[in-house]
Amino acid sequence: MSENSPITKASVDAVVSDALKLISAAKDLSSLKSIRAAAVGDGSGIAALSSSLGKLPGDQKAEAGKLITAARAELNQAFSSAEEKFYKQEQAQKLAAETVDVTAAANTQVLGARHPLSLLQDEIADVFVGMGWEIAEGPEVESEWFNFDALNFDADHPARAMQDTFFVEPVEAHLVLRTHTSPVQVRSMLERELPVYVLCPGRVFRTDELDATHTPVFHQVEGLAVDKGLTMADLKGTLEHFARIMFGPDAKIRLRPSFFPFTEPSAELDVWHPGAKGGARWVEWGGCGMVNANVLRAAGIDPEVYSGFAFGMGIERTLMFRNDVKDMHDMVEADVRFSKQFGMVL
Ligand code: DAH
Repeated sequence: MSENSPITKASVDAVVSDALKLISAAKDLSSLKSIRAAAVGDGSGIAALSSSLGKLPGDQKAEAGKLITAARAELNQAFSSAEEKFYKQEQAQKLAAETVDVTAAANTQVLGARHPLSLLQDEIADVFVGMGWEIAEGPEVESEWFNFDALNFDADHPARAMQDTFFVEPVEAHLVLRTHTSPVQVRSMLERELPVYVLCPGRVFRTDELDATHTPVFHQVEGLAVDKGLTMADLKGTLEHFARIMFGPDAKIRLRPSFFPFTEPSAELDVWHPGAKGGARWVEWGGCGMVNANVLRAAGIDPEVYSGFAFGMGIERTLMFRNDVKDMHDMVEADVRFSKQFGMVL
């Protein structure tokens, strides 16, 4: 009776070969997926044969069942090896597409760095804040009165011309770009309660051409102390402490008699720089002195009761001899490679 069975080797082979054709026609995972039902799933020839198995007479079931099981195994095998092949292909394509060239130059963003002059200015401010001093500021466009008159410069004092001042128009307004930070002394005395201990860092202006050692815009730091009983010894002790922090424990200072209209007596300040390139030596650092009685009076302070000392120096100059910077151009050109040598990258 087996000849009458609709499930013969030939009919099963035909179903298998149709399904194999479908499978081999698939080009990738998604087309393979779309023929799954027709080749091996619910809608496939082999599924149809399976469901007709139940209608066969008992004696034909076993053999037909074996044929179908073998055919199913073959088709499942063919389907999953196609699936694996396409999966591997797709992975390989993905890997190729997503390859990272670890030798390629990194796309990093160059960050700036704090300018060495700002760092030095902060470092100096820290020394004085550490001693309880306050930081004071004043305007860069300053009245002639604060810049010169209140500081005891006569109207025709040669220092006014000596300082090579930028005057701001109209001239009748009597405004200048401040030539030094000393006017902040007077402002501080007028604005603050006594005693006064202030440090005034800031930008100043003179009509110099930019060259290796000059720049028309530079920075100074000014110190002013006004209290009862201050003497030159207080000035000297303060500057020595400052020098040691800036230049190391072996640093010392020397005062040479000089003249400034706003101090009496006045002195040039030299510092012994132990770490100087080419050997320890004396370097001219700034000016200082005891605040002139006329300056105290201009600020409404009684010189019979109070005395004061003051000092001032250039920050560019300090950076130049402290860190052996040879050319002022490096400080004004804003090349981050210069700044980075001083640390503190942002
Ligand atoms: N203002 C002076 C200058 O620009 C520097 C200076 C000298 C400041 C003596 C002072 C001082 O406070 O006492 O050259």
